[in-house]
Amino acid sequence: MNRFAAPVTVRAAAKINLHLGVGAPREDGFHPLTTVYQAVGLCDDVTAHPDADLTVSVTTTDWVDAAAIPVDGANLAHRAAVLLGRHHDRDLTGRLEVEKAIPVAGGLAGGSADAAAALVALDRLHDLGTSDDALLALAAELGSDVPFALLGGTALGVGRGELVEPVADVGTWWWVIVPSRVGLSTPEVYRHFDRMFPNASPEPPDADQLLSALLTGQPVSLARTLHNDLQEPAIDLRPELGDLIDLGEAEGALRGMVSGSGPSVVFLCESADHARDLAGALMRTGQDVVLVANGAVAGAHVVPSHV
Ligand code: C5P
Repeated sequence: MNRFAAPVTVRAAAKINLHLGVGAPREDGFHPLTTVYQAVGLCDDVTAHPDADLTVSVTTTDWVDAAAIPVDGANLAHRAAVLLGRHHDRDLTGRLEVEKAIPVAGGLAGGSADAAAALVALDRLHDLGTSDDALLALAAELGSDVPFALLGGTALGVGRGELVEPVADVGTWWWVIVPSRVGLSTPEVYRHFDRMFPNASPEPPDADQLLSALLTGQPVSLARTLHNDLQEPAIDLRPELGDLIDLGEAEGALRGMVSGSGPSVVFLCESADHARDLAGALMRTGQDVVLVANGAVAGAHVVPSHV
């Protein structure tokens, strides 16, 4: 390792599932998905510094629960480093600094963003030249959402969500994001889906209507086609999420929806101004954290340090 190499910072975005169609569980326990992901402008940065050891440290914005994030081998950025090293038949070292703005266990794939960012940051720090296909394969081993975190934009995901391809999207979509202080466990929400829908079809519902709406660029059209099969189980586990959706829609959102497995709730708006107005209205109702973000934005990419 060149200990004089410059640190590398990689930014990776949160995701929203515009469509999350879930089928009955497969033999391996995972659920077959037809999903449409969108990367939105709420990002974590991972900086890889040259070092003789592999370590991870995390700093957070005030709405992210730092205590809920592991800094040991269970951290997804750490696992990404181990897996990338194994792929190249060597032990990779580096001091990984994760700056988190994406809520933890929020249904926004924050851990997946960190894993994707760590793969790219360490690849660049050590000048490994890992191919895109190899990075996507390693990402899929790390988690179902990690390949999308590499890709970004708006993409169709199938399989268990790990097989991704970009889709046409002509719009700029404005979202208000309301995270929860307490996360929800993704496996728990999937288990609750199985309890609530024991006769679910093995074929997840397709995303055709939503894909057509993306081509109109019209928020009103997209709002009509947003779909999340994990919303009912998430609301059944956390009834206040249903109240929050009703509140945001009463305050003028085109549509409110649980993000992924929750508990973050996202609201689609007409425009940037509309999103800022809605965020203000939700703050006045007593929500302590209300964020505004637009999509689609880029997948994991190198940025100059401290931008
Ligand atoms: O792939 P990932 O590690 O993010 O998945 C976390 C958990 O979410 C899995 O262990 C599984 O319980 C559930 N899951 C699922 N079907 C999927 C994706 C995730 O059941 N397609």
